[in-house]
Amino acid sequence: MQRVEAELERLINEIDYDEVTRLFKSLSGGKRLRAKLILKIAKDAKDAPLLAAIVELIHAASLLHDDVIDEADTRRGAASVNATDGSKTAVMLGDILYSKAFTELVNFDKEIAQTIAASVTALSKGEMMDVKMAEAFNSDEELYLNMLYLKTATLIEAAAKAAALLAGKDPHSHALYGRNLGLSFQIIDDILDITADEATLGKPAMNDFVEGKCTLPYIYLFEALESDEKERLVNAHAKAIDTEENTWIRSKMDEHQTVNRSFALAQKLSNEAQAVMKDDAELVGILETMIQRSY
Ligand code: FPP
Ligand code: MG
Repeated sequence: MQRVEAELERLINEIDYDEVTRLFKSLSGGKRLRAKLILKIAKDAKDAPLLAAIVELIHAASLLHDDVIDEADTRRGAASVNATDGSKTAVMLGDILYSKAFTELVNFDKEIAQTIAASVTALSKGEMMDVKMAEAFNSDEELYLNMLYLKTATLIEAAAKAAALLAGKDPHSHALYGRNLGLSFQIIDDILDITADEATLGKPAMNDFVEGKCTLPYIYLFEALESDEKERLVNAHAKAIDTEENTWIRSKMDEHQTVNRSFALAQKLSNEAQAVMKDDAELVGILETMIQRSY
């Protein structure tokens, strides 16, 4: 990972603007999940750290823009760039990181460059769907999972596939692994929004629904409720929620086991990915750790 951080520093220095260097240094790197995945899959490839740095720049750019779109004041426990330096700066910094990443990406083999580039179109489409879908209560599971796939899984899928191409490994099984890792990661995130407390989350619990996001446990709840209860749930959507409604939703979720049902889907996706990667203990280990985050 030190080589990835060194590549990131080199690319940022090449932009040759102190303000960008300062702002980039102020960002928390996060878990660097995508970079770690690329390094694990393409250990011996000379260009793996550069590819990992490119993907992390794209991810960082997408989060800068996402925080502007979501009007989020914090990111990874610290103040967001839009909060400290304003939305215009956050958008411009995102543009610079994103285009620098693409400037480097075009030097890779065509299939690798196309894989990453296409995933950025998909993730941008997923972000737009996410925002649009939060405008009204959504009870369509397939639509929700497709949005999740586009918004969070495509870049992880593309990172795994591109790393496999770089290392001369099978792109298909690695793509499936990345897709399912991304999807189950996000489903677990949705569950934690409901089951974890504010101190663990760094934001209020059950915030997704207040923000209009009908995540899987809510979609399954809607399916299970009687019609007058359905109406009560839809009425609570996208509003500040009082303790009574909160308690009611939680008790109905317990009654209908909707968190468990969501977890079962994450587990199934994870199992599928483990099965295609059964000979790679490290990749299987990543999935196991991720799934265990939940309970
Ligand atoms: C976080 O979602 C957002 C994403 C994973 C993708 C955002 C994508 C874009 C803004 C478009 C791409 C733009 C560029 C420049 C590459 P979230 O709001 O559900 O999660 P959060 O809690 O981490 O904010
Ligand atoms: Mg956001």
